[in-house]
Amino acid sequence: MPCTVIAGAFWGDEGKGKIISYLALKDKLDVCVRTGSVNAAHTVWIQGKRYALHMVPAAFVQEKCRLLIGAGSNVHVPQLLKEIQETQTGNRIGVDFQASIIEEKHSSQDKSSAHLKGLGTTGWGVGPAVEERVRRTAKTARDIPELKTYLVDVATETNNAINADKQVLLEGTQGLLLSLYYGTYPYVTSRDTSASAICSEAGVGPTRIDDVIVVFKAFITRVGTGPLPGELTKEEATKRGWFETAAGTGRDRRSAPFNFELAKKAAMIHGATEAAVTKLDSVFPESKGAKAYEELSREAKQFIQKIEDETTIPVALVGTGPDALDIIDRRT
Ligand code: IMP
Ligand code: MG
Repeated sequence: MPCTVIAGAFWGDEGKGKIISYLALKDKLDVCVRTGSVNAAHTVWIQGKRYALHMVPAAFVQEKCRLLIGAGSNVHVPQLLKEIQETQTGNRIGVDFQASIIEEKHSSQDKSSAHLKGLGTTGWGVGPAVEERVRRTAKTARDIPELKTYLVDVATETNNAINADKQVLLEGTQGLLLSLYYGTYPYVTSRDTSASAICSEAGVGPTRIDDVIVVFKAFITRVGTGPLPGELTKEEATKRGWFETAAGTGRDRRSAPFNFELAKKAAMIHGATEAAVTKLDSVFPESKGAKAYEELSREAKQFIQKIEDETTIPVALVGTGPDALDIIDRRT
């Protein structure tokens, strides 16, 4: 802080929503800027209630936090309005006037394309919507009457907040290995997901960033098609307690053990200064609910240590359960 970027390491679903909701509460975030689009779902558990957010920033749990959607994002209007209602955040949402709009026709195009089906897309239509933006025929937020009351210049508002020493967080979506540039092309999403791209979508230059937190999950999951090194059978994943279904689409997630080489690459390309490791309790069950590093088993500590050795950055946050506050915070 004051300006931190949160970026995913692998194929998304690392638990960015959980880490952001924790930081929102703990560091009393003033501003959170969401990037990307509706294909990504960020899960937040707070006071026994679960939210799967496709549009509203995960920092909504901090009641004073201003919630912004950057110019680089792609806005699904009905989903945004539904989530504003669900989270009761209409008084603190701002949408950049130049964010592009994803429409129903894009979803139909996504679902009816054999090529996109082969990639195992989410079906929300983000690829076709981005194509339209590149052709410069897409609608933008200022063309949508329902968004009128929310329109702002997100880049100016965010940079002003950084100038005023406010606590600002840029919320990345998906993971590095889904990046259009650095992922497992062509089995990737329709945008770059690196920390630099997150800054670009929010309108914040690289010199304004203090920290980049790369989020690792203690094992790896992937939805859709494409390579997954060390992939386990569904049976083996279930046995280990690693079988998950997608928060957004409900599809089965494929899973594999943690991969230190991929972790190293993600930390490098994101330019990460710190790491967060989520779901440690799925790999080391005795760590469930731990709030202090000392409570961890020797094996769990060795795992954290190995991540630090390989990536050469500190593991500052460790998730030990689903709630926003189930966390070990090692920051000084
Ligand atoms: P698209 O982004 O819907 O075009 O899908 C392209 C690929 O990215 C597919 O393999 C999707 O499963 C994957 N994908 C897109 N968004 C997410 C996400 O938020 N979490 C995990 N996978 C995602
Ligand atoms: Mg997700």
